[in-house]
This record gives sequence, structure tokens and C-alpha cells, in this order.
Amino acid sequence: MIIHRHDVVVVGAGLAGLYAALMTSDKVDTAVVSKVYPTRSHSGAAQGGCAASLGNEVEDHWEWHFYDTVRGSDFLGDQDAQEILVKEAPLVIYECEHMGVPFSRTPEGKIAQRPFGGHFGNFGKTPMRRSCYAADRTGHAQLHTLFEQCLKRGVRLYNEFFLLHLIVRDDRCYGVVAWDLRHGGLHLFHAKAVMLATGGYARAWKITTNSMSNTGDGLSLVLRAGLPLEDMEFVQFHPTGLYRSGILVSEAARGEGGYLINGKGERFMERYAPEKMELAPRDVISRSEQTEIDEGRGINGEAYVHLDLRHLGREAIMEKLPQIHELAWKFAGVDCIEEPIPIQPSAHYAMGGIPTDVHGQVLKDEKKTPVVGLYAAGECACVSNHGANRLGTNSTLDCCVYGRRSGIAMAKFVAEEGELLPDLPEGAAEPARELVTRIFKSKGKERMVEIREQLRETMTENMGVFRTEDSMSKALRVVKELQERYKEISIQDKSQQFNTEFMEAVELGYLLDFVEPIIVGGLARKESRGAHFRKDFPQRDDKNWLKHTLAWKTEEGIRLGYKPVVITRFPPEERKY
Ligand code: FUM
Repeated sequence: MIIHRHDVVVVGAGLAGLYAALMTSDKVDTAVVSKVYPTRSHSGAAQGGCAASLGNEVEDHWEWHFYDTVRGSDFLGDQDAQEILVKEAPLVIYECEHMGVPFSRTPEGKIAQRPFGGHFGNFGKTPMRRSCYAADRTGHAQLHTLFEQCLKRGVRLYNEFFLLHLIVRDDRCYGVVAWDLRHGGLHLFHAKAVMLATGGYARAWKITTNSMSNTGDGLSLVLRAGLPLEDMEFVQFHPTGLYRSGILVSEAARGEGGYLINGKGERFMERYAPEKMELAPRDVISRSEQTEIDEGRGINGEAYVHLDLRHLGREAIMEKLPQIHELAWKFAGVDCIEEPIPIQPSAHYAMGGIPTDVHGQVLKDEKKTPVVGLYAAGECACVSNHGANRLGTNSTLDCCVYGRRSGIAMAKFVAEEGELLPDLPEGAAEPARELVTRIFKSKGKERMVEIREQLRETMTENMGVFRTEDSMSKALRVVKELQERYKEISIQDKSQQFNTEFMEAVELGYLLDFVEPIIVGGLARKESRGAHFRKDFPQRDDKNWLKHTLAWKTEEGIRLGYKPVVITRFPPEERKY
């Protein structure tokens, strides 16, 4: 096996991973290991913007952004982390600008800002324009700029290396083992500090905005390392996924004035959030849409409603929403200048993930004991900025702020560690070797594609916008069955180079692991909060459930624990929308 040695190894080349690498690269030897070529990372699909209280278009203050983020999270976010997020937002936006991100501009040449759901002025009272954007390709612009900066600063990039094992022993991380997708073969990356920036996991749902690569790899490896995941039951559904495929139609379309229309031609948000309409937080809009669909008011009674942009006119659409125009045309055959776009809620974002402190260091229990040398940031992490529901454009922000902070923390940690790498534990790569051997030698009769599609259908049907005890119990039963069937899969392609069948087999194992804490955490949480809406417990219950879930994978199944929410400034209030 080839062994690489670096001070810092970042896994994942999206916004969080690349920002962290930038922060460490001028101080210590830094490598980025990525399953895909960096510019294909899912951050590139972020469309609408990156939130910051610059006040370029209307008066704004970090305290207002703070309040919206806390309220949007349905009071489950940790307010120490949220305060850092919003206070450091202007800093990362200007840093991105100076690195070369081509933000759209106001007529006077300032960074332009647009409205987004859940962002308001004066503590929820007035309209707001807070999301900095580059047309509707903001994540793409940020990702390419950070990638170029990493190249300039000599970050060592290992592209198309697929993570198979996290080397953790006795509360310390020593590195990772990955598979070289291009040539085949195992590589061990031995490091003083490892950072997971492996992104989200919504490929476990059939209708999703997420790219093929979002299979929760980092999360499942954390579970397999005996560490917990936090608040996994909170999964965000974006209100405007293209009908059938789920491809993202940015909330920017509503920020720029788009309407939601049901099968009766009504602007149905009038019934659900009359003051905020299409700019209410995402959990509220997704539930409203799903209610319209479930009660037969979808378009022609089908499972979709319309997003109407026609009144915005060709010029505004082509200037501010060009990608939406292209996606709607290519994937739904709709010219949104002339026709409304068919949309439905689409699995979009993980609020939960790998528990960390505000420096990105991974935590292993309710007492917040740190794991030495292990960091996480971006969508795979849970610090927790987003609590039960994230506000639009706080995600690219989270990646930048907490990717940056993790990089700074790792550089400091490495400097304090001294010259030598920690000795690798005995058999450090054995689990990866066993996994590879098991899959290549497998002779079972089960077909992977059937298991994967059944999983995705079950998650969409039973772990969607609305949940009940029955639906979640059914999902758990199916997942348990699928986990058993997975033991009997086999792959036909035994080649080493670009063996996508092998990769899919490993990814399917990851999908089947991390969905379990989502379901078990959801079954246990007998309340509705943010994106976790139970028809059988429709109220938020602060008395019993104002707490974070932690979930461990054990021989006996998922074990749950809880830890308190950090509340510094805004005590929980009633939240209708
Ligand atoms: O709608 C969007 O452009 C998505 C933004 C986000 O998830 O933050």
C-alpha cells in the first residue's frame, strides 16, 4: 500500500474543504483528498447566494441575521456557533471578493444582495436583501475561485480518491485510507490533523437536489469509528425541486419575485404564511406545498405545483436567473419566460452531522470530549448552526466561515504537535483492506440497484416532509431488511481502473448506515420542530425536546443520547413561520 504523509489531510474539495486548505497551506504541509475532481464538488451546485449583513442594498446588522438564523433553526441551533457564523459573514464575503469571486454588483459597484426566505430586517419585521450572489451560480463561482487559490498556494491535491476508512483509536485520529479510483489500489494518508468536509447525503432520497456524489461517506465512517452523529433527524426539503428529478430551482427565483401557484391557480402561500408568502422559511413552504399536493390541489391533481416567473420578464430572468432558465429547459422542457415551472419538495440538506466545537474539532460524547486531530466542517458537520431548519444561503456561508475556522485551528494544532507524525496504530488500514476484499470477492445474488432504489423510495415516502410513527417504523423495517440483503450483493466488474460498480457498492453501504440514525432519532423525537414534522405530534415541545440528539452505531443497533442546546441571547419563542 502506498503511504502519503502530510501535516493536514482534508477530505473533500467543496467550499469547506478548500477554504480550510487555504488557511493551513501557507503554514503547514496540506493535502486535499477528493472523490471527484474538485470543481465537480457539490458546492458548485449552490445557486442562490451566500448570506452576510453587508447592508449594501438596505440597512442590515449582524444581530438581525443572528435572530433570523436562531428563529429559522426553530431554536435548536447553538447560539454561540450561530453568533460566530453571522459575525464572521462579512469577513468571508470580502475575503472571497478579494480572492476573485465575481459577485454580481449594484449600480454603484457594491456586492449585490437579494432577498431569501427567512431573512428579514429589524428582528423579523421588515423585508431584507442579505444574500450576496453571482447570478444564480454563486457556489460555482466561489468553488472555482477557492480551487484556483489552492492551486496557487501549492495545496497537494489527490483527485478521485475515494474514502474507505478513518483511522481513529483511543480518541485520536491518525489519518484515512482511500481507494485510487483512476488506477485502483489503497492509499494510506497519514496526518497530524484530518478534516472531514465530505458534504451531504440526500442521495438516500429518490427526489433530491443533490449530486450523485452525496452519499454521506464521511458520516458513515464516523459512525463506524464508534463516534456519534448529531441531530440526524433534521433533513431539509427544498421547496422548489424540478418535478420528478428534484434538481434545484434556486430560492433566488422567489427572492426575485417568483410566485407559487396550485392547480386552482391560487397563490396558496396566502393561506399558510400571509405576511411572508413565498419568502417564509423553507420548512414552512415545503409543508404548504406538500399539503396542497396531498389535498389534491397539485397541477391537474398531480404531485407538483407551479413556480411562475413569467411576470419577471426575459431581461431579469436572463440576467439574474440564467441557470434556472437553462435547467428548466433542459430537464423539464419548459421555457420559464413563457411557462411556469413544475416543482415539488426535494431532499436538499442535512442540518445534522458530525458534532464539532466552534473550531471544527470533532466531539465524541454528551460531555463534548474532543477527538484529537479530527475536524469536520461544511454540510457533513453539525456545530450546530442550523438546528432544526437552515435558512437559504446560510450553507455556503457555513462552509466558508467554519471551513476557514477549522483551517486556522488545524494550523495551530499542527504547530503545537511538533515535528513528528503520531505513530500509526497496529493494523491501521485493515478495515479498508477487508472491505475491498469482501466486495471484490462477493458472490451474492442480491442486485445493488434494487436495494438502492428501494431505499430511496422508502426514504421519500416515509421520511419526507411529513412523518408519523407508522411511516418511520416502516422505513426502519425496510432499512433493516435492506441492510441484511446488502450482505449478499456482488459486483460483476472486477477491474481496478475506474471501477464505478465497486464505488457504488461501497456507497450503498454508506447510505444504509447513516439512514438508520435519521429514522431512529426521528422516531424518538416526539414533537415537530423545523424540518422534522410529525403529524402525530404536530407541536414543538420545548419542555421535553429542546435538546440535541446524539446517535451511536452499536452491535445492538442505534443508541441515542442527548445534550443541551446552547442559548445565549434569544430564548425560544413561538414560531409559526
Ligand atoms: O435555493 C437555493 O439557491 C439554495 C440555497 C441554499 O440551499 O442555501
